[in-house]
Amino acid sequence: MHENLYFKIPELRLPAEFFSNTEVVGNPASSQILDFMNTAEQGQRTRLLQTSDKESDWVTGTIDEYVAKQLVEWCNEKFTIRFTNAYIIKTDPGKNGDWHCEGPLLQNRLCALNFLIQGDLGTTKAEWGVHKNYDVDPDFIDRYISKGVKHEDVDVVKEYVSEDNIPFFYNTACLHRSVNENCTSPRTVLSVSAPFNIGMKEITKMYENGTLFR
Ligand SMILES: [Fe+2]
Repeated sequence: MHENLYFKIPELRLPAEFFSNTEVVGNPASSQILDFMNTAEQGQRTRLLQTSDKESDWVTGTIDEYVAKQLVEWCNEKFTIRFTNAYIIKTDPGKNGDWHCEGPLLQNRLCALNFLIQGDLGTTKAEWGVHKNYDVDPDFIDRYISKGVKHEDVDVVKEYVSEDNIPFFYNTACLHRSVNENCTSPRTVLSVSAPFNIGMKEITKMYENGTLFR
């Protein structure tokens, strides 16, 4: 139903040094609209639509500023696109993240390069969904939702169970969430944002054409 939700980049391995940064150090913010300036020079505004009134079991925040910069630079050395920022998403064991999306209206990002640095392989997963009340292109759902998205209003269309730590591009325009309900370890993802106007279709095409890597 929706083809461009994720794909793995087996050619890429995250250096071990980045795996030790599993702590959220900057303003962990959940259940609200996150609005922070990124740490990179671009000064691109980063907004994440995550609107839920309930106590949340996941946090999104910044990692150490220096480490974030190193990570973005490391990605920019590998790829022809320029990544804009990096942050961390942590979901507690036994819990799931909230359904949310991050673009295109928000001009934050359409997709991200994600690195799972902590989590129960074979169990922890990501899910994508479509809103039951809106029969629209799932990559443009952010025009229609302004309040929190309840789980009962979502049809899950795809899941990706992490069997390994291979980096993966991840569609963040379509509704998505982290699912860590049957796990004993936190699910921790370093998430590096693609430019706000480059989506999964473009990334996939570049990957297939051989123009994604430097
Ligand atoms: Fe997200």
